[in-house]
Amino acid sequence: MRNPLSKTITGIKPSGIRKYFDIVTEMNDPDVISLGVGEPDFDTPWHIREEGIYSLEKGRTFYTSNSGLKELREEISNYTYRHLGVSYDPVHEIIVTVGGSEAIDIGLRAMLDPGDEVLIPMPGYVSYVPCTTLAGGVPVIINLKEENEFRLTKEEVLEALTPKTKVLILPYPNNPTGAIMERKDLEAIAEVCIENDIYVMSDEIYGALTYGVEHVSIAALPGMKERTILINGFSKAFAMTGWRLGYACGPKVILEQMTKIHQFAIMCAPTTSQYAAVEALRHGDEDVERMREAYDQRRKFLVHTFRKMGLECFEPFGAFYVFPSIKSLNMTSDEFAQELLMAEKVAVVPGTAFGDCGEGFLRISYAYSLEELKEATDRIARFVQFKQEQIAGELL
Ligand SMILES: Cc1ncc(COP(=O)(O)O)c(C=O)c1O
Repeated sequence: MRNPLSKTITGIKPSGIRKYFDIVTEMNDPDVISLGVGEPDFDTPWHIREEGIYSLEKGRTFYTSNSGLKELREEISNYTYRHLGVSYDPVHEIIVTVGGSEAIDIGLRAMLDPGDEVLIPMPGYVSYVPCTTLAGGVPVIINLKEENEFRLTKEEVLEALTPKTKVLILPYPNNPTGAIMERKDLEAIAEVCIENDIYVMSDEIYGALTYGVEHVSIAALPGMKERTILINGFSKAFAMTGWRLGYACGPKVILEQMTKIHQFAIMCAPTTSQYAAVEALRHGDEDVERMREAYDQRRKFLVHTFRKMGLECFEPFGAFYVFPSIKSLNMTSDEFAQELLMAEKVAVVPGTAFGDCGEGFLRISYAYSLEELKEATDRIARFVQFKQEQIAGELL
């Protein structure tokens, strides 16, 4: 029989995050605390859920237009203007998708021809590299540096550029590092993109979750709206992961082609979720603020606690992750994660799940209650102390 599988897809590695979830599930031990999950621990605010329920009661159980409910696209347009200062035409420049995930996928498919290069800063979200490959593009990894607080610099982009570079993925606020880019950082990148005629896919799914700094979109900088696809969604800011709703905003010519792929593969995003999302954008700002304040408290607690353990931990100003370094413990991220899980029953994700340059780091999610974080960090501190004493003993 012929091999039924495509070489492209068999060549893609499964997500490194899943490995730890699978181990935890197999352990089936109620004492295990997982700090591995990248989704809010909050329930979707009740008034948003109610709007979903109401839409079902009203019998709104049909397809919407391919690009999404008109009133939702109008609210997205208002939201991006209100929060980012960029205005998009709801008819031609916005598409509602199945999570930010689908928006990333169809955005890359719409822009790439075989051999086109995509600059992907790492550590970064797990889907950028496989989606680039699936779209026929060539991923070119830019290894971000801890000494730059994992920001992307103009020099790093210039070094990675070739005549085949077509798209730069800009993943800020970042999963897994929690790094952000400020206006001056983005201005430098925008200059390179304009000079070298590069398009940007700016994944701003954590844009509503920054702490003490304003989130700036590269699309808001002069000359950038026409070369940027803005990715966003409801999963993180509104605690709506299971509703599977996201969106992309960008130039009409690209959005038209994205809509074509979406039309044939998906038809439209879930109707109930779209009605709920209208309510989220109209009346959800206070909920987002309430959750953001809780995340901020947890963030400060974790940075302080990891530093107290003697581990280096740069202060992240976005998303809901901290990225402490375990380099001083002479073990790999994978060894640390495995041994910690066995010894103390705490699951964390090794930095290498987000690219090779994540070696020596752990991704710790703070989408957990402070009580859980306190218990988990007590256990981690015990494990780290044991390792530190082992190293000190070897030195004697
Ligand atoms: C950086 C980033 N982008 C996009 C996504 C996709 O989110 P969703 O498809 O739930 O909108 C995630 C999910 O974890 C993420 O971390």
